[in-house]
Amino acid sequence: MTQLFTVEAKGIEKSFGSTKALRGVDLHIDAGQCLGLVGRNGAGKSTLVSILSGLSKPDAGEVFFHGEPAPSLRDVDGWRKQIATVFQHSKVVPQLSVTENVFLGSPAVRRGAVDWRQMREATRKIIDEWNFDISVTARCETLTVEQLQIVEIVRALATGAQCILLDEPTSALERRAVDRLFERVNQLVKNGVAVLYISHHLEEVFDICSDVTVLRDGEVVVNSPIADIDKDQMVAAMVGELPATANVTDELGVLLQREKAGNGEVVREGLVVEDLRVTSSRGDVIGVSLTVKPGECVGVTGLLGAGVATLGRAVAGSQKFDGGTVTLNGRSLASGRRDLSLRDGVGYIPENRQLEGFVAHLGVGENVTMTITDRLARRFGLMRPRRRDEAAVALTEALSVISSGMRQPVGELSGGNQQKVTVARSLMSNPSLIVAVTPTRGVDVASKSLLLQSLIEASRSTGAALLICSDELDDLVDCDRIIVLFHGSIYYEFSSSPFDREALIAATEGISLSDRTAS
Ligand SMILES: Nc1ncnc2c1ncn2[C@@H]1O[C@H](COP(=O)(O)OP(=O)(O)OP(=O)(O)O)[C@@H](O)[C@H]1O
Ligand SMILES: [Mg+2]
Repeated sequence: MTQLFTVEAKGIEKSFGSTKALRGVDLHIDAGQCLGLVGRNGAGKSTLVSILSGLSKPDAGEVFFHGEPAPSLRDVDGWRKQIATVFQHSKVVPQLSVTENVFLGSPAVRRGAVDWRQMREATRKIIDEWNFDISVTARCETLTVEQLQIVEIVRALATGAQCILLDEPTSALERRAVDRLFERVNQLVKNGVAVLYISHHLEEVFDICSDVTVLRDGEVVVNSPIADIDKDQMVAAMVGELPATANVTDELGVLLQREKAGNGEVVREGLVVEDLRVTSSRGDVIGVSLTVKPGECVGVTGLLGAGVATLGRAVAGSQKFDGGTVTLNGRSLASGRRDLSLRDGVGYIPENRQLEGFVAHLGVGENVTMTITDRLARRFGLMRPRRRDEAAVALTEALSVISSGMRQPVGELSGGNQQKVTVARSLMSNPSLIVAVTPTRGVDVASKSLLLQSLIEASRSTGAALLICSDELDDLVDCDRIIVLFHGSIYYEFSSSPFDREALIAATEGISLSDRTAS
């Protein structure tokens, strides 16, 4: 007798032009099973999610729910009854309220009228369960990246579907929120819901999944109970044959150094922040002073709301500050003027790459060179796309961006590759200061260290000051110093590596390290 799985995909093929995103993928998720789906950036995970959600049609193959063929793509309600999805990229409508978004397309109706009260109460109940401070009537455009991710999760969990697909649901969540999500997922799984869980944090997959499927270049290469595989085996399956990337960061250093020399700029004093004060819905900064010397790499970390991202945004000129000064090489930077900060030599990798990181409909080459069009035009006269793309190729190769070419719109790239384009763009401008806010969000395990090394190499070889603001401690291990923020102020500074991970985590929670001497 054949088993009837909650969801089953058989022989799924999907191509975009010459890119084969999925090549004959078979996958099934059973009731009460949490299946992990892992693979490198561009492996095909989100493409599979969009097919399992009824958003796109496979070129070949079929999806089944409880053994029955899936409804046609036009039958949106039919799909919605079967599957709820947290998409990798926000599908929240910014102009609508939290409640409207949660019930979008399936409003609660009572006696023929939309029952707003019931919907608001239902939404409030779930948000309260999460212990989150989000108003159910707030317009979503006022929410932070973390809060938007919570809205997406609340929406998926509210549908009562028998299968839930989570595409990197924790990428913007802090540890405590991740724990809460895991509690909920465990509960759902116990109640017989089938869950597909995608993450680049492999430890999460080991924590929560009972089985794992590894995709590589659009093919399933491993399908195994989680107990039968260890992390090294999982990474090996994801990566396959390692491409020769050993000295790409060296080449990158030479490349950037040459550019810098051509630019004739001398970096002298680095970054000096004095008594910075910023008000922000997502964490104030209260009187922070710090310095980053040329070629130095300083990490800033802390819990959600501690002001880590706010500090990064303010220093980069992407957010106004109320008081204090930000000085780069002796020149005072304007408050909240990203355009002027860019001109003054601040490269910026923003937290919200969708909004600030790139222009989706423009090509890879155009995005990467966007910050230097005036320089290219000076050097080559009239700006020619070929020149522009040539300038972008070396850097995108060094960062292992996977695309079909420099002309491919960045909106078509996988999430992690979009992030790499954002990083390339910030390096391209030969900055004197690089501000990187959660730079490895959505980047796969193998590319993560390459990307961080590239940032550090760019800083060391060109003398740029590097400020990495991140709640992921793994992003900070190679920093020269790490500053911990707590409630908007500097709580502790760790000044020598290797850093004590336990002590770092304790400091982010504001737990006093009485056995250590404060610096
Ligand atoms: N709309 C599209 N047009 C063209 N190519 C696309 C489109 N969507 C996806 N692709 C390509 O399909 C491949 C798989 O992309 P997908 O987004 O599924 O990767 P992923 O495994 O989710 O990666 P990540 O971990 O970075 O999110 C990539 O090479 C990507 O560029
Ligand atoms: Mg993806």
